Amino acid sequence: MKMPNFKRVAIALTALLLTATSASAKYEPTEDNLQARKEFRDMGFGVFLHWGLYSMLATGEWTMTNKNLNYHEYEKLAKGFYPAEFDAAKWVSAIKASGAKYICFTTRHHEGFSMFKTKYSKYNIVDGTPFKRDILKELADECHRQGIALHLYYSHLDWYREDYPWGRTGRGTGRPSAKGDWKSYYQFMNNQLTELLTNYGKIGAIWFDGWWDHNEDPNFDWQLPEQYALIHGLQPACLVGNNHHVTPFDGEDMQIFERDLPGENTAGLSGQDISRLPLETCETMNGMWGYKITDQNYKNKKTLVQYLVRAAGKNANLLMNIGPQPDGNLPEVAVSRLAEMGEWMKTYGETIYGCRAGIVAPHNWGVTTQKGNKLYVHILDLKDKGLFLPTGNKKIKSAVDFVTRRPVKMAKSGDGITLLLNEVPTEIDKVIELELK
Ligand code: GLC
Repeated sequence: MKMPNFKRVAIALTALLLTATSASAKYEPTEDNLQARKEFRDMGFGVFLHWGLYSMLATGEWTMTNKNLNYHEYEKLAKGFYPAEFDAAKWVSAIKASGAKYICFTTRHHEGFSMFKTKYSKYNIVDGTPFKRDILKELADECHRQGIALHLYYSHLDWYREDYPWGRTGRGTGRPSAKGDWKSYYQFMNNQLTELLTNYGKIGAIWFDGWWDHNEDPNFDWQLPEQYALIHGLQPACLVGNNHHVTPFDGEDMQIFERDLPGENTAGLSGQDISRLPLETCETMNGMWGYKITDQNYKNKKTLVQYLVRAAGKNANLLMNIGPQPDGNLPEVAVSRLAEMGEWMKTYGETIYGCRAGIVAPHNWGVTTQKGNKLYVHILDLKDKGLFLPTGNKKIKSAVDFVTRRPVKMAKSGDGITLLLNEVPTEIDKVIELELK
């Protein structure tokens, strides 16, 4: 029997409406996810690890493109990758000693090499190198054993695969077709993400990077909503972050700032608005993400601690990067810096972990962090004994030196109070603890 026309139109219209609603359906994070966001912010401090074949070239993770290395020549590096000294337990212990609560590891960087066992490409640490060990598996097991969260960096762009459609970067690596094969590449990424979220236990976050490779092409569609839904379907509490340098998209659970604290934009990658999602700033311990043999310019303890504190005062976690050596060791200087940060964290961790930005906004002299009615005043750079705090009409019950527990004098002045210190502070961070009423 023939269906009347109006009925057919009605069915088509309903179908259209359904597709339209599902396509524009807003992401609703689960309870577990919301809890994970909070726990993530409470952690305050994480360590980033950029490790791949590029570490052998020892000039940073962009060498393949910076030097226009042919992808088939580059591929040969894999056959020589044998990080004999790699010891996940040693890494995790050194990182834990810094007070960091999570590790973010590059599972596949722009060079396209997978640092984990994947069924979807032979170009991986197990099938493509004489080392044959699944580094990610060893790292993940160790993180779970030692109780530190594991986040996974995953590059959207790829300078090696022929199916990845050419973007702004990596055009000189000899890959044949500008167009690539998006369908095949998208499927590949989703297959790998499924492996990452199935074979390595609980994953705290997927940390995307490389979206900007196509940001000059308004028609390029990364199909992020489906990819994010896949991640949340596999592990609802897994946070999705994307280092796209713009305001977060629907489906993301945290906001990333590269080499700048939120609201500052000195490196030119962080001009985006600040969202209400948990914030994270990533920065390098020397000047490069991947191992760079000529760069021994590691930041000192004071700079590292003060950056962590300033991040906390801007309501952001700090993700501090180290580039492991090709032999499998973390650079010695980096390990000693981790220990120094850990020493500081042992005393002051309470003023960072579980804290949010305090009621007094950041100033040149320092920042405040806050947990409940405890306001921690972090004095980082003050050439004076008096410090005015614009606390408005907030009543302050008491002020003590966080370390010595000795009372600190206060005087009501104007729109706040002035702390009257006994001497000009010389510590990396002099912390005064205020109790608010
Ligand atoms: C960048 C770089 C990259 C690095 C990342 C870390 O966007 O492309 O090499 O991994 O920042 O934030």
